[in-house]
Amino acid sequence: MVHSSRRRNFNNKKKGHEPRENKWRDDRDAPGNQGYREVLKENEKYWEYYKQQNVFPLEQFDEFKAALQRDLPVSFRFQGCHKDREQLIHEMENRFFGKIVEAEDTAVCVPKSLPWYKEAYQTPMSRTAVRSHPILAQLHNFLVTEAELGNLSRQEAVSMIPPLLLAPTSEHYVLDLCAAPGSKTTQLLEMIHENDENPKGMVIANDVDMKRCYMLIHHTLKRFRTAACAVTCEDAARFPQIADSDGGLIQFDRVLADVICSGDGTLRKNPEIWKKWTPQDGLGLHRMQIAIARKGAQQLKVGGRMVYSTCSMNPIEDEAVVAQLLRDSKGSLKLVDTSKMLPELKRENGVNQWKVFDRDMKLYNSLEDVSEEKMKKVIVPSLFPPTEEEAKEMNLHYSSFFEQPWALFSDVSYFF
Ligand SMILES: C[S@@+](CC[C@H](N)C(=O)[O-])C[C@H]1O[C@@H](n2cnc3c(N)ncnc32)[C@H](O)[C@@H]1O
Repeated sequence: MVHSSRRRNFNNKKKGHEPRENKWRDDRDAPGNQGYREVLKENEKYWEYYKQQNVFPLEQFDEFKAALQRDLPVSFRFQGCHKDREQLIHEMENRFFGKIVEAEDTAVCVPKSLPWYKEAYQTPMSRTAVRSHPILAQLHNFLVTEAELGNLSRQEAVSMIPPLLLAPTSEHYVLDLCAAPGSKTTQLLEMIHENDENPKGMVIANDVDMKRCYMLIHHTLKRFRTAACAVTCEDAARFPQIADSDGGLIQFDRVLADVICSGDGTLRKNPEIWKKWTPQDGLGLHRMQIAIARKGAQQLKVGGRMVYSTCSMNPIEDEAVVAQLLRDSKGSLKLVDTSKMLPELKRENGVNQWKVFDRDMKLYNSLEDVSEEKMKKVIVPSLFPPTEEEAKEMNLHYSSFFEQPWALFSDVSYFF
């Protein structure tokens, strides 16, 4: 999830090998920072896996593949509670958008406001293209300066969705269990400050990784001054109960479980995944994801709202985790139908059926197929799809696999 600020090297050394658009060149961790690596944007297991999972209509497969092989579009949003937000937006549009249109350069696109979040903008151009194109250089500088001042955040569009679904108010206690580097934490804080400079509510932002907590405090929160945030460094699966000054246990109005995941929806910004990905990535995290989500649900007030989200499209990391949580909750948690929320956002419904494959794409239809002793620890009951009866109760189709157009899928959010 961490972006490198160094420039990517797009020199084409091995001309004629693969189509140019299928390679990503990067100089971030090359030895001595000299030279570059090429990443072939192909992974046969990945394609086969997603063909089998039924998470989108098969006739969209080519579109799916092409979207993942394109560069990640640039997106940013203006700070939700900024009193001069409208003026800043006006300034940006006036100073830069007209010039871009006048240039009549087909390679350059005017950023467009997202239909489901009007203060957020996106351009199909990549970061590199925006930085390097002369017409956009001034706009780029404006965005960098305003981001430094805390007036806007550069954030992937799909990452803006979970806080919008949580919609906390200034009264709410919010728990963000896996918060670093903090783009969603900032958005949540902006929301609780939107109508109140001194909100009664607050956000507890937690992450298990000390270095990433440091980054959350010194890079992200530095730009947003607030007394309504506390940062904790705990394993979210064991997050303790917090007591207020009278000794009463705090239950949260809103919980975000934006859990650790395989990140297989982030191929466009984490190109290493092309080389390494196997179905094992999701299998290996499944139990941790359940443990974190379960702890989140335990900390939730009755009548509260929780969003579970990942950067993966894998039902093993999404639907299977939520299904297990619903099973465990014995009726105390319910999925909310989000189809009426953010109506302009294109989405696919969650699925009730999926397949369980191991690292080598061996298919397991049920636990009876697990013969090897070492696989018994990996292929666990909660990986398998619900029975028909369970599926009727669970409403997994209420959950949304968001895509805006194909460039935007990666988070999957569930609402309790
Ligand atoms: C997907 S990232 C979170 C992104 C963040 N919500 C944002 O919007 O900027 C997942 C985070 O989970 C953290 N993490 C991994 N295991 C964890 C655990 N057991 N408890 C808490 N945090 C964990 C990682 O350090 C990582 O920062």
